[in-house]
Amino acid sequence: MTTQAAIHSLRRFGLSVPDLAQAERFYRCFGLDVAPFEGGGLSIRTAAHGREVARMHLGPRKQLHHLSFGAFDGDLDQLATQAIEAGAREIPAYDGGPGRWFVDPDGRAFHIVADENRSPKGRTTEELIVHAGPNAAPGRDLEVRPRRLGHVMLLTTDAGRTASFYMRALGMRLSDATEGIVSFLHHPHGSDHHVIAFVQSPGPAAFHHASFEVPTVDAVGIGANRMAGHGYKEGWGVGRHYAGSNFFHYVRDPWGSFVEYFCDMDYIPANTPWEPRKVAPENSLSSWGPELPDYFLVNSEA
Ligand SMILES: [Fe+2]
Repeated sequence: MTTQAAIHSLRRFGLSVPDLAQAERFYRCFGLDVAPFEGGGLSIRTAAHGREVARMHLGPRKQLHHLSFGAFDGDLDQLATQAIEAGAREIPAYDGGPGRWFVDPDGRAFHIVADENRSPKGRTTEELIVHAGPNAAPGRDLEVRPRRLGHVMLLTTDAGRTASFYMRALGMRLSDATEGIVSFLHHPHGSDHHVIAFVQSPGPAAFHHASFEVPTVDAVGIGANRMAGHGYKEGWGVGRHYAGSNFFHYVRDPWGSFVEYFCDMDYIPANTPWEPRKVAPENSLSSWGPELPDYFLVNSEA
C-alpha cells in the first residue's frame, strides 16, 4: 500500500477584487508589503521575509481565485494522483509557472508546487506577552508587521464533505470539528492547529478570511486599533479561539470578507498522533470575545 503524501505549507491565497488600489491600501494598512506582479495584479508580501502570501487579481467582484500549497519535491506526483482520485480535475497553469493546478469538486482552483517548507518548526510563543514590569505596555506607535500567513477559512455548503476532500487530496488531517458548522485541518509535517478551515454556509464556495501571525497579544490589539484608525472599523475581536487556542482580531475587508491578526496558536508536531475533538457549538467560534457581529458569517460572494 502506498502511504499517503501530504502538503507541508499553505503558500498563498489569491482573490479577484474589483479595485486594486483599494486592495493595496487595505493590505498596506494591515502591515504587509504590496508590489505589482507580471501579468497585472498585486503581490502581497510579508515585510520580514519578503514572502508572497497573497495575490490580488482584477475581476468584476471579490471572489476566491486560488489557493497555493507547498510540498516536498518527491511527493508531487503522488499528491496529483490523490487529488484526481479524490475528485479534482487538473487544469492548465494560469500563470505559466511551475507546479500543478487543479479544481476541486466545488470549483475552487488550487496549486501544488515543490517549495521550501514554510511551516513553523514549533509553537511560536517566546515573545507572546511582555510580562508586567516597569513600563511594560507598548506605545500606540508599536509597529505591527504580520510575519507569516497562518491559515485561510473558506465557506462551503458542507464543511465535513469539503474537509474530507482536502484530507484525501492533500493528505491533511482533522484537528477539531463541530458537526454541521466548522472543520479545522492541519498537515502532518509539523503544523499550526489549522492551515485551512471550512465553515458551513449556504451559497457558493467562498473566501471567508486569511489569518496572519503577529508576535504578541499587544500587536493583535494595536493592529486592530490602527486599522480602525484608517477607517476599517468593522470586524470582530479581540478574543481567543477555543479550536487552536489563538488570540484573534478580525478586520473586515472592503468586500465583506476578513483578515485576522493572530498569535499563539496550538502547534501539532510532525507525525504526532492528534485526537480531533468534537467541539460543542457554543465553543466552535470562540472561547471568549465580543459578541459576533451579524455580518461575520454572511457569504460575501453570494
Ligand atoms: Fe482564523
